Amino acid sequence: MNAAVAKLRELEAPAEAHSLMRLAGLIERLELKEGYEGEHTARVSALAVAIAAELGLSGADCRRIELGALLHDVGKLRVPDRVLTKRGHLDESEWATIRSHAALGERLLIHVLDLPEVLAIVRSHHERWDGHGYPDGSEGEDIPLAARVVAVADAFQAMTEPRPYRKPRTRAAALREIVSQAGRQFDPACVEALRAAV
Ligand SMILES: [Fe+2]
Repeated sequence: MNAAVAKLRELEAPAEAHSLMRLAGLIERLELKEGYEGEHTARVSALAVAIAAELGLSGADCRRIELGALLHDVGKLRVPDRVLTKRGHLDESEWATIRSHAALGERLLIHVLDLPEVLAIVRSHHERWDGHGYPDGSEGEDIPLAARVVAVADAFQAMTEPRPYRKPRTRAAALREIVSQAGRQFDPACVEALRAAV
């Protein structure tokens, strides 16, 4: 059993936990199809919690961030495989389809989960501090803090993991890249917390 599913087992509400475990299993399968080496979301989740703890967030907030991070890419289940796994050039409509996963994920979970903070992570994990992200183009502190935390954790993990089309970066190189994007792509406070956490 993967770490994500094990974590979801610990949830308090059994009905929700069952649906979420199924989803976590599906997300993991999807990542393998995309060429990830597996356990990406579990690692994002663990790092997001470490960042949240550095920021001094409460245990309850950390647990919601942990769950939101496990589910952040759930909307990719609604993106056609031929787009998701395509190598090489994507046209504008294919990029739009990929970008739709954030709002699609929120829509998918809204029926399963009554946790607004978790839904906010799923919807807003591709927003950018400078307002040039998606789906809403929200800016700065208008982006939910939990989503800003997960954005930093997701980026760091993605950079340090191999993909079929590129080698992984070292942790130091990934950290440098993220620090260079503080105040642009990422919340500077979350970047500082990442630096402390790794
Ligand atoms: Fe995503």
